[in-house]
Amino acid sequence: MAALLETCLPGLAAPKRGKVREVYDLGDTLLIVATDRISAFDVVMANGVPDKGRILNQMSAFWFERFVDLCPNHLVAIDDDRIAARIGEAWSEPLRGRCAIARRAEVIPVECVARGYLTGSLYKEYRASGGGVHGLHLPSGLLDGDRLPEPIFSPATKATEGHDENISFEEMQDLVGQELAGRLRTLTLEIYSRAAEHAEAQGLILADTKFEFGLVDGELTWIDEALTPDSSRFWEESLWQPGRAQPSYDKQYVRDYLESIGWDKRPPGPTLPDDVIQRTREKYVEAYSRITGMPF
Ligand SMILES: Nc1ncnc2c1ncn2[C@@H]1O[C@H](COP(=O)(O)OP(=O)(O)OP(=O)(O)O)[C@@H](O)[C@H]1O
Ligand SMILES: [Mg+2]
Repeated sequence: MAALLETCLPGLAAPKRGKVREVYDLGDTLLIVATDRISAFDVVMANGVPDKGRILNQMSAFWFERFVDLCPNHLVAIDDDRIAARIGEAWSEPLRGRCAIARRAEVIPVECVARGYLTGSLYKEYRASGGGVHGLHLPSGLLDGDRLPEPIFSPATKATEGHDENISFEEMQDLVGQELAGRLRTLTLEIYSRAAEHAEAQGLILADTKFEFGLVDGELTWIDEALTPDSSRFWEESLWQPGRAQPSYDKQYVRDYLESIGWDKRPPGPTLPDDVIQRTREKYVEAYSRITGMPF
């Protein structure tokens, strides 16, 4: 079983490459191919996790569809036969299951993050600032991984290089306008609570998640990916214990390995050993089946 690391599709202009996805321009629409690349600490590893792109693509489709009552999304097609027919000679079997045709959006330049638990970059800033962070009015004395009194909206700017930067709601209003900022906050929190409820029923905590939105013909549209392990922190409920870093649902084996070799977290990413790849793949497969209720 080989991982798909890169694509170069005949007859199509070179794609825009993100850390995980390759985005081909089809005119009005985009062909988005989810590869098997995996990143840790914002650096892409030298090898990939077989089927990871398929799992992310199909998990996103599951959530987009589930919450279509809350927000229109960018998907036009994820059915392989339709996609193959649309892209003709550019189609090949390795693309199966990992493609989406999406409406091209004018991307809103803010990452919309909802957090039900305090951890990661926001926890670091909270610690460093003694509590008052980005105007969020968080209670004092929270530990890493503590549940927040209620979910918060914590926007971030899309950094072109490296880490995203958390901003206050006021800063977001300056960037996108008051009206749109308010709509995005409401929508982000609505989707988060519905998804967290669903995850909880499967024994998973959805600690936080990041959405991207855009405008398609002036209409607010949910784009990119939806509630995958790459864009969200899922924690095993039974292992949750505030006061320490929670085990990462999907990338723990990768992180443990990287720590064990004393990697300096600077690109290029190292090659992960086979057993780390296999165990990581199993976690993605398990996430898919627990969340969607269907076998992968
Ligand atoms: N419907 C859409 N219209 C326009 N751009 C889109 C649409 N959906 C997704 N994108 C963009 O396509 C890219 C997807 O690639 P990928 O997820 O690998 O991105 P990345 O930003 O490098 O990584 P990360 O998600 O880790 O920040 C992103 O830049 C995203 O904003
Ligand atoms: Mg992305």
